[in-house]
Amino acid sequence: MTSVTVDPSGKFLTLTTTGSVRRYHAIWLRDNARDPETRDPGNGQRLIALRDIPDNIRISGANLSGTALQVSFLPEGKTLVYDLEWLAVNTYDGTPSRQRGWTAPGIEIWDARLMGEIPVGDFSALSQDSGALQGWLERVNRYGFGKVLNGPVAPGALFKIVDLFGYVRETNYGRHFDVRTEVNPTNLAFTGLGLQAHTDNPYRDPAPTVQVLYCLESSAAGGENMVVDGFAAARRLRDENEAYFNVLADYCARFEFAGEKGVCLTSRRPIIELAPDGELIAARFNNRSMAAVTDVPFDQMATYYDAYRRFGEIIDDETMEVTFRLNPGEAFVVDNTRVLHARKGYSGQGTRWLQGCYADIDGLRSTYDAMCREQKQKAAE
Ligand code: FE2
Repeated sequence: MTSVTVDPSGKFLTLTTTGSVRRYHAIWLRDNARDPETRDPGNGQRLIALRDIPDNIRISGANLSGTALQVSFLPEGKTLVYDLEWLAVNTYDGTPSRQRGWTAPGIEIWDARLMGEIPVGDFSALSQDSGALQGWLERVNRYGFGKVLNGPVAPGALFKIVDLFGYVRETNYGRHFDVRTEVNPTNLAFTGLGLQAHTDNPYRDPAPTVQVLYCLESSAAGGENMVVDGFAAARRLRDENEAYFNVLADYCARFEFAGEKGVCLTSRRPIIELAPDGELIAARFNNRSMAAVTDVPFDQMATYYDAYRRFGEIIDDETMEVTFRLNPGEAFVVDNTRVLHARKGYSGQGTRWLQGCYADIDGLRSTYDAMCREQKQKAAE
């Protein structure tokens, strides 16, 4: 049983149900009305600007009827109807205070123990079965990466992976790039040395948010791919030493790439990026493209380097990493705002040919959310 009371000031109302008390401001309710004069019934876009709502708005009356809440506003003299379930879902009263470094619902941080449960999808199933695609996208969102098996062994097949959820993001490296390695231990230059785990292209603004790597040839031993959850590493750093976490979150690093004629990419962003309310939203880690850091005050710089070093040690810790081999026709998709990737070193002889490209995580999430919404609408029909 829900009851409603309007504050004598008319500035807010209170909905009380067993176990919950939720307040809503007059201005918030008016701005979020769902009537056809406030929101387009077709595309859901708001049709009014805040300037169209009087700043002295107040609630003159409210009453409940079934699952609907009727609210009258002055001085407009409007009465608008709100769905109680919508109000419950969109409550903002009693938002919990969270520790810096919290993560959004639906995100699960992980370490090496995820090894047996890597999010995997079969290429044909993902292409033909929307349920399989939805499940795989959910896991890619949850863990920040996913593998695809049994794809075609053909140049350009990586674009078919991107087609599953979005669009390619073209850069100065082209629509895609080739990573070919000939492993020949007699010539060090061609030895496939391992790379430290990193996020790609932090010198771009914005950095690419999804990377796809697709394997076309892999005859050399070793060369496994490795991923590390940057959010898990950041949280571990926070739990070990909050001052280290804070210094990497509170000051900007600088990243730069100018290794190609006509290209001079620079960015100024923190290694650990938080939203203003402390939500962990991105990790950037790439020793090769870190520029001189000049935004950390002198008396914080030594701590900054200690924190950066420790963050790197955590990232290098084998208990944090998940490794897997990519065989021809296999790919992995990684959320480049969160999960770091690397290649292990090779041994023996052989070749390895990967194709890579970038795409966008918001497109991936949009595809998943739209599928969920459609599923919910179908279930309600
Ligand atoms: Fe990379």
